[in-house]
Amino acid sequence: MRPFIYAANWKLNKSPRETKAFFQDFMAAAGGANAKKSVVFFVPALSFQAACEATEAAAAALGMSTAPKVSARSAPALGIQNAYFETQGAFTGENSMSVAKEMGAAWVLVGHSERRTIFNETDANLAKKVEAGFAQGLKVMLCIGETLNEREAGQTMKVVETQSLAALTPTVRAKLAQAPHEFALAYEPVWAIGTGKVATPEQASEVHQFLRALLTKELGAQTAEEISILYGGSVKAENAKALGQMPGIDGFLVGGASLDPKAFQAIISA
Ligand code: 13P
Repeated sequence: MRPFIYAANWKLNKSPRETKAFFQDFMAAAGGANAKKSVVFFVPALSFQAACEATEAAAAALGMSTAPKVSARSAPALGIQNAYFETQGAFTGENSMSVAKEMGAAWVLVGHSERRTIFNETDANLAKKVEAGFAQGLKVMLCIGETLNEREAGQTMKVVETQSLAALTPTVRAKLAQAPHEFALAYEPVWAIGTGKVATPEQASEVHQFLRALLTKELGAQTAEEISILYGGSVKAENAKALGQMPGIDGFLVGGASLDPKAFQAIISA
């Protein structure tokens, strides 16, 4: 059974001090209410240590477990928003997945549309990052999604298919056959990110069902059924319920609304 995942992508927001304040409020508000819900925060690399310390301190105060981080009454899991596919060496300015793992990361986010467009990351480059994440023992969430021009040109399915297939290298396929829960897809239509223009439940569900069929064709039904496909793009408490009830939607990747502890809790409880 694939988990329903509530993922926060903070992007380039929150200092270590702000991170600590966030988790104090967020976890006190949860108070165990998120039992059995799978919650993950993709925090900025420079605030990662603060996030570890804050979630552990708050979990201890609330009597929650931090290991494993996705069990009942557990603290949220943490992830990084990007890292290089090499783990060390002469790569000035990059972050290492093996260091993230050592620090307590459970997940790495790969291929967010901002990485693809602002930082020119290609499908080939991202495939290497998916492989590297698995090699370092991280779970991998791969973001895919079409621009408005692509949607209007009727290319949505082609775009998400191309982006997904590029990541399914032989190494990745072998990994998924063994451990499908260590991978998730996040469908984020670029036109819905940070715009307040959420996809309708029907628009999102249509793509999610297409992706499930694609995974089934490529990986077999048994593996495909275990992979969560999240929706992202202007998710808020007001639209989370209708989206979450649609066939094929197995979680949310939330940007803006995840920066406020109450707003993100409201999505988790919706
Ligand atoms: P918003 O929720 O702010 O639209 O951002 C979505 C996103 O990009 C999450 O990765």
